[in-house]
Amino acid sequence: MKINKFVISAAVVGAIALTAAGYAVAQQAMVPKPVEYRQKMMQSLSAHLGGIFSNLKGEVNAKGNIAHHVAALNATAQAIPLVFEPGSEGGKTKPEAWAEKDKLMAAAKALADATAKLAAASGDQIGAAAGEVGRSCGGCHTPYRAQ
Ligand code: HEC
Repeated sequence: MKINKFVISAAVVGAIALTAAGYAVAQQAMVPKPVEYRQKMMQSLSAHLGGIFSNLKGEVNAKGNIAHHVAALNATAQAIPLVFEPGSEGGKTKPEAWAEKDKLMAAAKALADATAKLAAASGDQIGAAAGEVGRSCGGCHTPYRAQ
């Protein structure tokens, strides 16, 4: 009797886990590829900017990677305009982004300009230049990213 109960509860737990996994897969499948692509590119920006700050604050001990993060941010910033191509509508991007494409592209250029300045910065200037990059992210998120 005890064993039976165990078998039943294991089966129930298994069924719940399967349902949860199926739900996660279904959720992922619902995100169109162009939206997922944009979100991954954004996560990449975030990983590299975050990597700079974590090192500057001493939260991680990999200062030798700061140059890598700066170069990757600068390169990725150049790729941002095409993540908003027609056909990529949706996700958390407000429809205004496409209605005001010129302003969206100006915000993307502000990011690229800020990352270029960061790439040219050295020593003590890096923190302030990275802060400027962070502000340029906000310059696009505030008008065009839904909460
Ligand atoms: C030109 C506009 C623009 C710039 C510049 C920009 N973002 Fe974004 N970002 C967006 C939009 C719009 C979304 C919503 C994407 C979607 O879900 O469609 C977003 C989403 C994100 C997300 C969430 C991604 C996810 O997993 O859903 C992160 C993280 C992010 N941005 C980080 C950054 C960082 C860091 C910077 C600056 C280094 C930056 N972004 C610069 C427009 C921008």
